[in-house]
Amino acid sequence: MDLYRLVFRLVLARLDPETAHNLALRCLALLGSTAGLLAGRPVRDTRLHLERFGVPFANPLGLAAGFDKNAVAVPALLALGFGHVEVGTVTPRPQPGNPAPRLFRLLEDEALINRLGFPSEGIGAVAERLRALRGQPGVIGINVGKNRATPLERAAQDYALGLTALGPLSDYAVVNISSPNTAGLRALQQRGQLDELCAALLAARPRSRRGQPLPLLLKIAPDLTDAELDDILDVALARGLDGLVVSNTTTAREGVRSPLAGEAGGLSGAPLRARSDALLAACFARAGRRLALVGVGGVFTAEHAWRKLLAGASLVQVYTGFVYRGPALPGQILAGLQQRLERFGLSRLDDVIGAGQRLG
Ligand SMILES: Cc1cc2nc3c(=O)[nH]c(=O)nc-3n(C[C@H](O)[C@H](O)[C@H](O)COP(=O)(O)O)c2cc1C
Repeated sequence: MDLYRLVFRLVLARLDPETAHNLALRCLALLGSTAGLLAGRPVRDTRLHLERFGVPFANPLGLAAGFDKNAVAVPALLALGFGHVEVGTVTPRPQPGNPAPRLFRLLEDEALINRLGFPSEGIGAVAERLRALRGQPGVIGINVGKNRATPLERAAQDYALGLTALGPLSDYAVVNISSPNTAGLRALQQRGQLDELCAALLAARPRSRRGQPLPLLLKIAPDLTDAELDDILDVALARGLDGLVVSNTTTAREGVRSPLAGEAGGLSGAPLRARSDALLAACFARAGRRLALVGVGGVFTAEHAWRKLLAGASLVQVYTGFVYRGPALPGQILAGLQQRLERFGLSRLDDVIGAGQRLG
């Protein structure tokens, strides 16, 4: 058993999940870029490079939104080997989120349920931290949301505030319209509302820290019907958005054994994998390479990441897998991707993306 699993079992799993998370984040923040020492040998390989929406990524693996909501540990997380870190969800004004307990560990399912409800220090505090990272290598995404007190009709203003304040300090932005923990938020995925929202955000879009128009992606729920997904893809393609993050957590509970399954909130981790992979494949079947797809949901191993690439993801993100497997996970996944490229005699990751059964 590796050291992290021992620490997880003996220390972290005995703490309340949110306390454990905050402790881990504080340790990472203190370590800064020396956190790389926890990760083993770094995997640097030009075959893993790829460029999407004008942004060069050293590798396809990123840390999903929600882990470092307030940008307190970005250098440490990049030093662990992630090619990008998605900060947020950030709301315009600071807000505490839902009352605790609001994060649950489903050990027997390798899953989490959360109903955090966007606790955020707000765009001011996050902007200040991102400003301090200017000029640092590594890709930083920013994931924006709306305050709980903002009525849905004024949601576009909140998202626009996030984009204009944080976009110039980051490389790409994700508009989170799929958290199950903010009342009504998922309604923004409906065609009419989404089209209006996208129009408003494209009009407000600033330049990124690279000086290009800020790449804009939508993060979608895994609980959409086929018709709802069609609407989203139509709008995203018609408006010329850069991509989709597929997917957020699910409100479904299929295949979950833990007695905590009844807790309200979004489920992530192993039980989400199949649902999220299927949605990703459906997006790729319709949009092909016209939208950059970010595959997230249930990735714990290189094989899981490989399957998302085959299904059409250009980038792959992890959250729950990182919680369960620890700081060595990015290196393990990247080494596994390297091995697979070798096995199939491929010199570029781009040849894998959407290759489906051919390289399975
Ligand atoms: C505790 C927790 C908090 C999260 N917070 C956010 C968030 O603030 N914004 C967001 O877009 N996604 C958030 N997510 C969703 C993740 O980014 C990811 O989409 C989802 O967990 C599926 O990936 P996984 O199975 O690798 O965890 C959160 C997930 C968890 C477990």
